[in-house]
Parts: sequence; C-alpha cells; structure tokens
Amino acid sequence: MPKKLYVVFAVVLVVAMTLAACAKTPVATQAPAATEAAATQAPAATEAPAATQAPAAKQQLEVFSWWTGGGEAAGLEAMIAIWNKQNPDIEFVNAAVAGGAGSNAKAVLATRLAAGDPPDSFQGHAGQEMIGTYVAAGQLEPLDDLYKANGWYDVFPATLIPLISKDGHPYSVPVNIHRANVLWYNPKVLAKYNVTAPTDFASWLTALAALKTAGMEAPLALGENWTEVQLWETVLIADAGADMYTKLWNGEADWNDAKVLKSIEDYNKLMEYVNSDYATLSWQDASKLVADGDAAFNVMGDWADGYFSGKVDGGNLGLTPETDYAWMPVPGTQGVYDFLSDSFNLPVGAKNRDAAIKWLTLCGSKEGQDAFNPVKGSIPARNDADKSLYGVYLQSAMADWSKDTVVGSLWHGVVANDTWKNQIATDFGAFILDKDAAKFQASMVASCAQFGPCKK
Ligand code: GAL
Repeated sequence: MPKKLYVVFAVVLVVAMTLAACAKTPVATQAPAATEAAATQAPAATEAPAATQAPAAKQQLEVFSWWTGGGEAAGLEAMIAIWNKQNPDIEFVNAAVAGGAGSNAKAVLATRLAAGDPPDSFQGHAGQEMIGTYVAAGQLEPLDDLYKANGWYDVFPATLIPLISKDGHPYSVPVNIHRANVLWYNPKVLAKYNVTAPTDFASWLTALAALKTAGMEAPLALGENWTEVQLWETVLIADAGADMYTKLWNGEADWNDAKVLKSIEDYNKLMEYVNSDYATLSWQDASKLVADGDAAFNVMGDWADGYFSGKVDGGNLGLTPETDYAWMPVPGTQGVYDFLSDSFNLPVGAKNRDAAIKWLTLCGSKEGQDAFNPVKGSIPARNDADKSLYGVYLQSAMADWSKDTVVGSLWHGVVANDTWKNQIATDFGAFILDKDAAKFQASMVASCAQFGPCKK
C-alpha cells in the first residue's frame, strides 16, 4: 500500500446527472437467456419440430478497450479464456479499437456514448477520466452492491477507492496498477558504447550525448503524440518534484513557476536525441527500437514489460529481462510512482447488463487479476495477489508501489479530465512543432484556468 497518495480531486466536475433511476434498471427488462432451455431439455413429443423454430440467439457481452497490440491483447486474451470457461453460453464480443492509450478508441467510445449505444463495459482510467468525464456526464451506474458482495473494499487499496468514487459510490472496477515513469534501456547497447546507466537527469543527458557522439543517431526512442506528452509528464515530475507536481493539478501550485519552464526546456533537450520519425511510431515501434539495439532508451509505461517479455506467438518479443532489456525510474523520479489504473464499468443503458456484472466480477477477482496482470505488464489492483506468478520487473514494481510516493499520471487519466487533457494535447502538438517553451508554459496556465482547478 502506498504511503502517500497526493492525488486529491479538484472541484472542477460538472454536476452529475442523477443516476439513481438508471441504476435500478430492472433485470426483468432483459431478454431471457436464449440458449438455456434448448440445450438441456429433450424436446417433448408434442412440441413443434425444431426445424420450424428460429435458432436461439446466443447471449453476448460486448467489452470495449484499446488492447489490440503486443503485450496488451495477450492480457485481454487471458481474461477472455477465463470468461469462456465460466460462461460458455455468453459470447464474448471483443470490441477493442487499435491505438495505444486509446488514441482512436476514445473518440469511437465518445460517439457511441453520445448516441446512446454504449458497449456493455468499457476500459477507462481511474481518476479524473472516470469521475470527471464519464461519471460527471451521468454515463455510468454506481456499483455499490457489487463492491459489497465481493468484499472489494477490503482488497483494493484504500487510496485507489476515491479515484473511482463520487459521493461515496464506486463507479468502476480496477484491474491493475500501471507505472508511467519507467526508463527502459538496452544494457547490451550501454555496454557496447561503454556508457553507464544514468542516475539523474544530468547524467541521462550526458549518456545520450556520449551515445550520439559515438555514432548512435537517435539514442532515445520516441513515438506518437501521446507518448511525447507522457515523456514530458515524467520530466515535469523530475523537475518539480512529486509534491509540486500534484499541487499543479490541484490548483495549489502555479503553472507559471520556473520549475515548470525548466521541465519544458529539459524536454526540448531530450528531443535532440530522438528518432526523426517519432510522430509516426506506435509505442510498440518505439520500444522495439530499444529491443533491437537501434536506440538505447525509451520512456514508456510498464505495459512495455508485457511486450518485451511476452511470448512471441502472442505478438510479443520474448526477451529476457535484465539481459535483453532493463529498467529504472525516469532519472530524477526515483522514489516516485507515476501511477494509473485501468478499470471497467457498467454504462447506463448497457444492453447485456447481467453479463456486464459477471464481467466486472471477473475483473475484480483474484483469479482474473492474476491471469491478466502478469501478461499485461501491470501489478494487480488487489492486495492479495500470488506474487510468484509475476516476473522480475513486476515484482520490483510491487515493491516500489508499497514504498514510493504515488502521483497520478496526466496522460493516463488520473489528474485531468478529458476536456482539459485534450486541450493540453492540442497545445503540446503546437509546442512539438515550434519548440517554444515559454509559449507552451503560458498555454498550461491558460488551460488550467479554463478547464482545471485554477479557474476562479
Ligand atoms: C494506457 C493503458 C494501458 C496501456 C497503454 C498503451 O492508457 O492504461 O493499459 O494499454 O495505454 O496502450
């Protein structure tokens, strides 16, 4: 259990629509399970011949996520395998939309929610993404009964519960804890160029410069837009420190502070060492540059561990941890866990509500979490996991989670709701092109005033 969770929700939420009526959607309004009777009962002699009856439609469960690629799809598949065993009569419809961090999925989801056509359950991050976006818009049912029935208040970290709750009611089921501030590196590349792993931001820059001088054109692998914002978020933590970083998102620290400007300027320094095609690379493409020895470093969340070490036939790289790839917190963020949590929920108007409740029960179970997380590259949200099932990186992450200072990820939904985050993404897109640090800082001041807790 983390000692400190500085994330305190800002009071920026739109007044939530009342959900009480939706929460009581009677189960009786659902079509009865179509497959049950036919399979188990012998037809009575007087019944009409089977051929004249319409074939029974199989019940379904539609689950929406963005887990289609290396590392991610394998984790979802592990959960689907349990689902299929537990629910042979309910077809799992995998509605995943490709694109890391939901870069495409979230737009598709927003359209469906606006049209009143929600999936039966969808992936969303604990924190402002869940509470300040979907709950604020009245799009989710509260899950109080499910939490009580499954004893989840006893097994999920007490610090996580407020991030999925509003007015004391929980709205989603966390399946994992991810860490965003991980520097992945290729130890063979460092050894080849006689460069030691950095210990702080300055020695990281020194290492990058040494690699470039030695002929490595782009020692820091980078990918598309959201991975760039994630990289800056970790540099901001390094330069501002955990306490100030959290206060910035809560409206208790000033975005005009010199440390914020320094983080943006430091980001610009890192950009001198990245691959020129970064805008077109997925996070897996960037990770692979490190795996292949074409780059030395990459900052990525620990889903990269699933991709590096997962099975080749599952779309992963099958590498050996500590030999083929290694890790450390982003230099300057040692002792800080930049956290996020994937969670699933029950949308208002879900077509297969009973099946969705079964899915959420699986998501919150020890069996589900211990099948999903070792493959996904995350540690379980539950505190009673079987640690022996987890690899060397994840065991180290569990140890860090229990002792580090925990802060919330910007890009992965913890500290800013989607409206604010989308504005930051737009401003960052402009900054990537003009590299104007003061201008980007001014845009952070402005977006906090417009969408965040800085508004007066
Ligand atoms: C995050 C998500 C992770 C992982 C990552 C890359 O937002 O929480 O589970 O999928 O995106 O796609």
